[in-house]
Amino acid sequence: MEVEGKALRIRPCKESDLRKVYEIEKASFKDAYPYWLLKFYYVLSPETFLVAEVEGRVVGYVIGILERERLGHIISIAVSPDFRGMGIGRELLEGIIVKLRNKGAESIRLEVRPSNKRAIALYRSVGFNEVSIIPNYYEDGEPCIVMELVL
Ligand SMILES: CC(C)(COP(=O)(O)OP(=O)(O)OC[C@H]1O[C@@H](n2cnc3c(N)ncnc32)[C@H](O)[C@@H]1OP(=O)(O)O)[C@@H](O)C(=O)NCCC(=O)NCCS
Repeated sequence: MEVEGKALRIRPCKESDLRKVYEIEKASFKDAYPYWLLKFYYVLSPETFLVAEVEGRVVGYVIGILERERLGHIISIAVSPDFRGMGIGRELLEGIIVKLRNKGAESIRLEVRPSNKRAIALYRSVGFNEVSIIPNYYEDGEPCIVMELVL
């Protein structure tokens, strides 16, 4: 796989990638997950924690988990600001869908801010639909849209 002429690899996260993942998390969200929580998800399910590597550098990640054996959940996805708009988010999303499906997921859910038009467009384009809204979901009071992909 290539983005703008550079080699792109989607692979499982390693413990040594977690610092870089945390940097991307902080650059991407005002209410970023703390480092310990990223590590918790890594320990819980390393095979559904993927990173995107461009020329050996980690530039994005996606965290998925399988709940109650059949329900996939995308916990977080982000790409380094300098690497957005190149197709890396889409590759990460498609990669985690395959991983969760292979582990037995029959559907995948995620939460997204209604203001995050870019992410919503990406999720819709791979087949996610909006299923509900949870008021006051985020710390700043913004609701979330719950989106679901039926596999
Ligand atoms: C959401 C995010 C992960 C997408 O990653 P990305 O690598 O920039 O996305 P891609 O380049 O793969 O683009 C995928 C789709 O996103 C949308 N998109 C990309 N760039 C866009 C832009 N500048 N404006 C609007 N939509 C855009 C398009 O639907 C695009 O589809 P296309 O390739 O058919 O045009 C990235 O923007 C990000 O890290 N955002 C901050 C963190 C975040 O909001 N995460 C989601 C939380 S729910």
